[in-house]
Amino acid sequence: MSKKIIAGNWKQNGTLKSSISLTKKVLQAVKKEKYTHEIVIIPPSIFLLPVKDLIHKSKIKLGAQNVSAFNDGAYTGEISGSMLKDSGVDYCLVGHSERRHIINEDESDFSSKVSRLIDNDIKVIYCFGETLNDYKNKKTKLIIKRQLKKLFLNNKNNLKKHPSKLILAYEPVWAIGTGLVPSPEELVSIFKYIRDTVNNLDKKYASIKLLYGGSVTPDNASSLMDTEHIDGLLIGGASLIAKKFIDICSTI
Ligand code: PGA
Repeated sequence: MSKKIIAGNWKQNGTLKSSISLTKKVLQAVKKEKYTHEIVIIPPSIFLLPVKDLIHKSKIKLGAQNVSAFNDGAYTGEISGSMLKDSGVDYCLVGHSERRHIINEDESDFSSKVSRLIDNDIKVIYCFGETLNDYKNKKTKLIIKRQLKKLFLNNKNNLKKHPSKLILAYEPVWAIGTGLVPSPEELVSIFKYIRDTVNNLDKKYASIKLLYGGSVTPDNASSLMDTEHIDGLLIGGASLIAKKFIDICSTI
């Protein structure tokens, strides 16, 4: 059976000291508990290397929060896919709602980033989901369909060749950092819809894993994971607190 994924996105938080301390605590738990799922920690880029130094002999995987849309060259301030690869990065987020709505990135940026990552053999955790307004107007499925269609159309060649390099993370924007989570019935219906939409695009995509993200806590993690078609969790706030992140890893 393929592994479930628990990923912790630290966003733009912490210090070098707190990142090292958090990593050490997760490392200890992973060694002790021998989790069968894949644990991914996603620190700010500047802390990737010190974190990698701590986890490199462990089963913990390293994720980056962002990648340049360009190959190496004169792009001040950017970090390329090959640099991430060189630093031991296994996964990278693309399309996170904060990058869509605060940094104003769009589908064409995401498409270039997906290519740069797949070219460098880094797995893409592609985030998508509807805003509160879309949700209130009952447009959740319509938005999901549009976002997924664009992703698969813009990256058709790469994704058909390397479907296992893509992980999809459904994160309703209104659930991120708010304490709100879709109801169990909503989740069942949405994840069935996502699974069907992806599978209908090409049967090669049937093995693409689906994660849920948005206000995941130790209290709701296990029921979220029991939802059909949810293969893992993408955790923001709770991944910054070692005990909460470890509790989530342990409850599932
Ligand atoms: P949250 O963030 O767990 O704090 O809601 C999730 C995310 O942004 O990936």
